[in-house]
Amino acid sequence: MTSFTLLGLLLVLLLLRFKGLLAWQDYKDYKVFEVKPHDDIKLRMLHQLAREKAHWDLLAPRRNYNESGLRVLVSPSQVDGLLELLKTHSIEHQLLLDDLSPLVEAQRAENQRSKSLNPSPRLDVLGGFYTHAEINEYLDSLPERYPQHAFVKQFGWSYERRPLKLLTIHNGDGRSNKPVIFIDAAMHAREWIAPSLALYIIQQLLDNYAENKQLLQDYDWIIMPVVNADGYEFSHTDSRYWRKTRKPTWDPENIGTDLNRNFGYEWGHDEGSSPDPAEEIYRGEHAFDQPESQVVRDILLHYSDRLTFYLSLHSYGNFFLLPWGHTSDLPKNYNDMMEVADAGALAIVQATNEIYSYGSGYHLMYPTSGDSTDYAVAVANATVAITMELPAGGFLGFDPWVSHIEGIVTESWIGVRAMAMEVIRRYQPES
Ligand SMILES: *[C@@H]1O[C@H](CO)[C@@H](O)[C@H](O)[C@H]1NC(C)=O
Ligand SMILES: *[C@@H]1O[C@H](CO)[C@@H](O)[C@H](O)[C@H]1NC(C)=O
Ligand SMILES: [Zn+2]
Repeated sequence: MTSFTLLGLLLVLLLLRFKGLLAWQDYKDYKVFEVKPHDDIKLRMLHQLAREKAHWDLLAPRRNYNESGLRVLVSPSQVDGLLELLKTHSIEHQLLLDDLSPLVEAQRAENQRSKSLNPSPRLDVLGGFYTHAEINEYLDSLPERYPQHAFVKQFGWSYERRPLKLLTIHNGDGRSNKPVIFIDAAMHAREWIAPSLALYIIQQLLDNYAENKQLLQDYDWIIMPVVNADGYEFSHTDSRYWRKTRKPTWDPENIGTDLNRNFGYEWGHDEGSSPDPAEEIYRGEHAFDQPESQVVRDILLHYSDRLTFYLSLHSYGNFFLLPWGHTSDLPKNYNDMMEVADAGALAIVQATNEIYSYGSGYHLMYPTSGDSTDYAVAVANATVAITMELPAGGFLGFDPWVSHIEGIVTESWIGVRAMAMEVIRRYQPES
């Protein structure tokens, strides 16, 4: 067996499946292993495999590869097979957690306890991870508190009929048709830190307006904290590590589509997405067959003649991923986008020493087909489009503790702010 097939098998074996769940999944006896492919050959092999198979999450190399290796979650029934494979092929590994359930439970309790201290809609973004309903309630409370600066618009519904809302923040000077910075988050359900950052950005622009008003001088900001509302809710109520949407697929065994493979530009390539509903990067039967990607499409097109900067928030890995995802070619203003990313990375490293890598998604990570930033640039004429992969937290990277929210979002805001400043500096509207 080549190492390639080995890793392929390994990954297939490890793919998380959440089938037929009726209630909160407790992850009893689920184990977390660290696999250390830490010579250069194995590292290259992983990159290569990522290119061919694109099992996103499991292959996303951590920045400090040597230190942290690759973390994988396995159900109790998968453990023996995994250990056998690792042993047969002398891959170094270590059991990090013998039973994930007490930690999942502890995080859940921490979140409940912390949130009970500040009942909605007065939402303390640093004090908890909020549900879609709580976030919507908070958004709806803002125009009353900031009538000069904020309005809410609903652009559609999720598959399970949750209203998909976005907030526009402006400086109230009455000038219309300013260029737009559009930020979305939680296209992937379990990436909870992304909505936290979106909410923190809202608070910076509204509660902390005096300090940030230059960001709103010539630009309007449009923020959608939760795109994948159903999946996000499901990750709160049923299964913490859910990624996709909740719309059934043609396969009765598997629910959900990867929204970030469902956009209608260069959609449907097997390099960078999957036709198999069992996979985490399942792209859907057709481009835009998910109501949530339709909504983001409609927003991008609605603002296309003003869309200077589109920023999509994800976790994890400390990356600024630029188009293209679907090809090794580069978009024509790639260098400009790189300078925007560079401004963000520099601001962050100066503030906290955290290092971000940046470049085209295809080169830096692996191919993606049908992702939102490719669509934003190619079809909606966004000038700059960036996927920001926030820092890892918790046991699997997607699951920081509440007590870590503040560190991550304040640092990330420094980067977002610096990128916005650079965009504003480079692309001044003619007045
Ligand atoms: C990992 O460690 C080896 C040897 O210490 C080093 O040569 C290599 O560059 C490191 N790789 C990364 C990704 O840090
Ligand atoms: C994007 O720009 C092209 C070229 O100027 C134009 O033909 C197209 O209609 C624009 N797309 C949108 C959605 O406005
Ligand atoms: Zn993501």
